[in-house]
Amino acid sequence: MTNKELIELLNKAIKMELRVCIQYMWQHILWEEKETRKALEKTAITEMKHAEKIAKRVVALGGTPATEPTPVEVGETPDKMIAIDIENEKGAIVFYKKIIETAEKLGDRETANLFKEILSDEKKHLKFFQETLEKLHSK
Ligand SMILES: [Fe+2]
Ligand SMILES: [Fe+2]
Repeated sequence: MTNKELIELLNKAIKMELRVCIQYMWQHILWEEKETRKALEKTAITEMKHAEKIAKRVVALGGTPATEPTPVEVGETPDKMIAIDIENEKGAIVFYKKIIETAEKLGDRETANLFKEILSDEKKHLKFFQETLEKLHSK
């Protein structure tokens, strides 16, 4: 693994962050119940901050940050929305663990630490979406 390959991984992460940022913000607009609607907005903003921090890291490593999200899927029903979100958070958790491992192998502590911080947010997001799904099913 080279620095250039690490930049490619970071750019893939940026695309994933941009995707969920848009996805959660649009779900927030569609969501009826107040508490979850607020939480979706807050989560969307956190994802944008993730994209910002990763983009700064890409520039520091000499790369150009990606600008396009991976395809956004909002979902037509609350159930479908949350199911998609859970898959995205699970995907991010697996992928970010790989980035941490790669950065550590390259001796890039800053990237590893950044993704450890982001990973802990994604774990909280996954928990929030899993709890939201349980709430939907208990109705
Ligand atoms: Fe994120
Ligand atoms: Fe997340």
